[in-house]
Amino acid sequence: MEFDRPKCLASAAVDALNETDLDVKTAKVNLLAQLWEARSLSLTSKKDMSVPNEPGRPDVPIMVPPHNVPKRSIRSEKGMIALLHAIAHIELNAIDMALDIIARFTNENMPRSFFDGWVIVAKEESKHFNLLRNRLSDFSSFYGALPAHGGLWESAQKTQHSLLARLAIVPLVLEARGLDISPSLISQITKINDNKTADIFRIIYEDEKGHVAVGTKWFRFLCQRHQLDPALTFQKMVNQHFRGPLKPPFNDLARCKSGLTPLFYRSLPTSGH
Ligand SMILES: [Fe+2]
Ligand SMILES: [Fe+2]
Repeated sequence: MEFDRPKCLASAAVDALNETDLDVKTAKVNLLAQLWEARSLSLTSKKDMSVPNEPGRPDVPIMVPPHNVPKRSIRSEKGMIALLHAIAHIELNAIDMALDIIARFTNENMPRSFFDGWVIVAKEESKHFNLLRNRLSDFSSFYGALPAHGGLWESAQKTQHSLLARLAIVPLVLEARGLDISPSLISQITKINDNKTADIFRIIYEDEKGHVAVGTKWFRFLCQRHQLDPALTFQKMVNQHFRGPLKPPFNDLARCKSGLTPLFYRSLPTSGH
């Protein structure tokens, strides 16, 4: 795949963010990561860089309210396709959210290692998305075959004004939720002997621990920079910017290993389970 070689990290991220063809988008993310890791992209970006409100997306999937997205038992092939499709949609949003973090908060003056972390996240989300898309094709389906919902991108839009808010909601609430549900999902898939799908979810689970760790590291960094208490600030951000209670049970061990200790979330309201 041939396209112009980007010069700076933020413009490469905006270009991938705007891309509507998902093969090209993931290829652009991989090129961005390769160039960044080879130190061939500059960090200096134009201050007037315009970061889109909405990422580039193909015509399908059609967007519907969350309760209209089909949920079925994974014991049926239709159910497995619905699960793979729903998670592929989450991964696509995660690619765009990582790119948005790279491009949007250039005035925060973050160190180079902040961008190292988010470039790895974008690359891994892109890998997850493609693993799930390929698995969908094993079931003669594809990403776009089912409806999806726009709830995740809403969280990105609601936290456009503040990196602290963005880190609290995206990695520390949404991606941490992935850690909570992954072990039981992997065991359900293993029980139905779908080892190929289980292996994909194992890869995703391991990588996502790292994404929460990147989020926690830089959330704590920003709190220290602004002399804020991390746990209290996290609670304030969740109360202000996250709709609805957190959903237990929490995977305390995996969360803790990623630096997200119960002190952050224990006192927040939760839904019954
Ligand atoms: Fe992911
Ligand atoms: Fe992630």
